[in-house]
Amino acid sequence: MQTGENAPTPQRIGVPREIFPGEKRVATVPDVVTKLVKLGFAVVVEQGAGALADLSDDAYVQAGATIAPNAAALWSGSDIVFKVRAPVAEEVALMHAGQTLVGFLWPAQNPELMQQLAAKKVTALSIDALPRTLSRAQKMDALTSMAGVSGYRAVVEAANAFGRFFNGQITAAGKVPPAKVFIAGAGVAGLAAIGAAASLGAIVRANDTRAEVADQVVSLGGEFVKVDYEEEGSGGGGYAKVMSEGFQAAQREMYAQQAREVDIIITTALIPGKPAPKLITADMVKSMKPGSVIVDMAAEQGGNCELTEPGKAVVHHGVTIVGYTDLASRMARQSSTLYGTNLFRLTEELCKTKDGVIHVNMADDAIRGLTVIKEGEITWPAPPLAAAPKPAPKAVVAVTEKKGGHGHGSSGPMPTKTLAVVFGLGALAFWAIGAYAPPAFLGHFTVFVLACFIGNMVVWNVTPALHTPLMSVTNAISSIIVIGALVQILPPEAGTNGRPDQLIQWLAFVGIVLTAVNMFGGFAVTRRMLAMFRK
Ligand code: NAI
Repeated sequence: MQTGENAPTPQRIGVPREIFPGEKRVATVPDVVTKLVKLGFAVVVEQGAGALADLSDDAYVQAGATIAPNAAALWSGSDIVFKVRAPVAEEVALMHAGQTLVGFLWPAQNPELMQQLAAKKVTALSIDALPRTLSRAQKMDALTSMAGVSGYRAVVEAANAFGRFFNGQITAAGKVPPAKVFIAGAGVAGLAAIGAAASLGAIVRANDTRAEVADQVVSLGGEFVKVDYEEEGSGGGGYAKVMSEGFQAAQREMYAQQAREVDIIITTALIPGKPAPKLITADMVKSMKPGSVIVDMAAEQGGNCELTEPGKAVVHHGVTIVGYTDLASRMARQSSTLYGTNLFRLTEELCKTKDGVIHVNMADDAIRGLTVIKEGEITWPAPPLAAAPKPAPKAVVAVTEKKGGHGHGSSGPMPTKTLAVVFGLGALAFWAIGAYAPPAFLGHFTVFVLACFIGNMVVWNVTPALHTPLMSVTNAISSIIVIGALVQILPPEAGTNGRPDQLIQWLAFVGIVLTAVNMFGGFAVTRRMLAMFRK
C-alpha cells in the first residue's frame, strides 16, 4: 500500500436499497464489507438496504460501513455503486460522471438503459456479461451462484406445493412411495435442483439437449433420460441451441411419458437470446396425477410450460404450476451473501494494488467482457474470446480397457505368450537367488514380490475414477504402523529391567495420536468419496 503524499484517496463503494418491487436481495453483506474495507475502500450502505435480507444497519456499521440516510445521499457520495437489479430511471438520474456501476444490467435486453448510462458518462460493469467459460472468472460468476440458489429454492417451492414426502417411507401407518421428480434442463439451476431433490430422498430423472451433462446428473444422484434422437445440442460456450423439428418431436414424446409417470416437474431450459423452449404442453399437464407440481424456472423468459403464468402459482387440471420469477430473492440472505462475495472477488480483480482504488483494465479478458460502458462509451458487446485450445482426446476409459481383448495396446492385459515368458524369467530369477543369496534374503524377497504383484492387481482392476478413494484408504491402512507405537507405550514385560524411557513413551503417544488421525481420517474421507459415486 502506498503511504505519504502519493497515497491515492480511497474510493467509496455505495450500496443502495433495491427499489424493484419484491426484490429482497442487497448487493453486499456485513461479512463482505469487512473485506472491502481491508482492500482499502470506504463502504456506505443506504439505510435499511439489507432489512429484507435480515441484515440490520447495525451489522453493517459494526463491519465498518457508514449509513447513508437516503438514496440521494448514497448515490451522490459514492464513486462505485454495487447493485443487484439494473437501475430504474430515478436511480439513473442520481448518477454522476465518472461513477462506476456494477450489477445485473442485461445490456442486450436494456438498450435504452445503456444509452441513458452512456449519456451520464459513467462506467458500467454488467455482471451477467462476464465470460463464464474463463476458469479465472468462476469466482465472480454471479449468474451461477444465483442459478444455484434458485434451483434449490425451486425444489423447496415444489415440496411446499406437493402434499407428500419426497422420500419413501414404511411406517406403522402405511407405506409411502418416494416422489418422482423430473428436471428439464440440467444447467447450473437444474443440477442444483437435482442435488436438492435427491438429498430429500426423491427419485430424480433429468434431461438436457447437451449430452455432456449426463455424467453430472448421475454424480448428483439423478438418472439421465435420453431423447431417442441423435443430435448435438451444444450451441457453444456451454449453452444450448434450438433443436431440429425431428428432435423436438422425439423429445415431446419422451416428456409426455415422464409427465404421466412423475409427481413433480422442474423446468429450467433456456437458450440464450431466444424465448424459452415450450417443453410441457397443456395436454402433458392434463395427463399428470392430481396433486402434482410443476415449477417453471424459465417463467420470466416465457416459460417452458404452456400454462405457466409468470410470477404466480396457478392450478390447472389439479396440477399446481409455480411460475415465480424471484426464486433467488426468496432466499435473500443466502443469495445476497453469494452475490456480495462475487462482487468482492470482482473488486479484488479491479484493485490489485489493494489501495482502495479500482482500475478497469480492458486488456483483461474477464474485465473486458463485463465492461459494457467505459467512461460514457458503450463497449458492449465485447469481442469474442480467442477460442480455447481443444482438449486432447480423452484416454480410453477403464470400461473400454476391460473390454479390450488381448494384445490391444500397451495398457490391455498381456498376451498369453508374453505372460509365459515373464513367468519363466521370474522362476529363473528365483532359482538363482535361492542358489546363491543368503537364505533370509529369499524370504524377504518373496514377500516383496508378492506385495508388488497383489498391489498391482488391486490397482489395475480399479476404475481410474476410484483411484483417489483407493489412495486415501491405502493411506488409512498404512496406519498399521501404529502397532510399533503401541508396543513402545505398553508397560514393560515381567523380567525386563524397568519401564521404557519416558521420552520414548511420550513419542509413542504422539505417534499413536497422529496415526489415529491418519487412520480414522483416511477411512472417513474414503467413505465420503465413495458416497459420491453411489446413487
Ligand atoms: P441456461 O440457464 O442458459 O440453460 C439451462 C439448461 O437448459 C442448459 O443446460 C441447456 O442445455 C438446457 N436446455 C436448453 N434447451 C433445452 C431443451 N430444449 N431441452 C432440454 N434442455 C434444454 O444455462 P446455464 O445453467 O446458465 O449454463 C449452462 C452451462 O454453461 C452449464 O451447465 C455449464 O456447462 C456452462 N457453464 C460453464 C461455466 C464455466 O465453464 N465456468 C460457468 C457457467 C456455466
